[in-house]
Amino acid sequence: MTRAEGIPLGRPASLEDPLRIAILVSGRGSNMQAIAERSLKGELAVRVVRVIADRPTAQAIERARQMGISTRVLDFRSLGTSDYHRLLQKEVESSGAEWIVLAGYMRILPEAFVRHFEWRIVNIHPSLLPSFPGLQPHKQAIAHGVKLSGCTVHLVDTGVDTGPIIEQRAVPVLDDDTPESLAERILAVEHEAYPKALARLATGRLRLIGRRVVGGDAGS
Ligand code: GRF
Repeated sequence: MTRAEGIPLGRPASLEDPLRIAILVSGRGSNMQAIAERSLKGELAVRVVRVIADRPTAQAIERARQMGISTRVLDFRSLGTSDYHRLLQKEVESSGAEWIVLAGYMRILPEAFVRHFEWRIVNIHPSLLPSFPGLQPHKQAIAHGVKLSGCTVHLVDTGVDTGPIIEQRAVPVLDDDTPESLAERILAVEHEAYPKALARLATGRLRLIGRRVVGGDAGS
């Protein structure tokens, strides 16, 4: 692979040989469920090999169990950061996952962890990055007065919501929107954008050139 061709992302996968992913969650788990449902229906060449939560109260764990997916809770609060991240790495590696998918995962991964899984971690953020990274993006978008917001699926680098963009979807911001009503409209497109981004990774045609993620669409 020459420099000009960039860094290959993902690999050619199929329903018989799906891309193996571990999904990291902290809460509700609707994105995890949207991905897992498509995978279980055979619409996505991806297999959720484990769902890992950083807290025992994550509703996502129960949703995953109901879908027959292997789950693990690593309680950050009782483990502390260094044991937690050591065990998290071990858990991902023992699951056989090739990629880590953050879906409503409310922790910043340490630099060493991100570097260990370099360009093998994806995240979804409910704004059109680079606008409104970090906390309360819906509130930030309304306060700023933007007329469009949406969601972004991106590779995770060592910054917060700064990595190269894979997929985006836009939705209108309405005059009477509250952070909650905007979040609901964005969530609906998150459930389309995340499976689509993973489908592109599973083509084996996606490449990272500088900050640009290119290829992997039908026909590319
Ligand atoms: C989503 O809006 C996601 O973009 C953000 O946190 C929310 C998680 O929702 N990072 P869910 O747990 O997937 O339902």
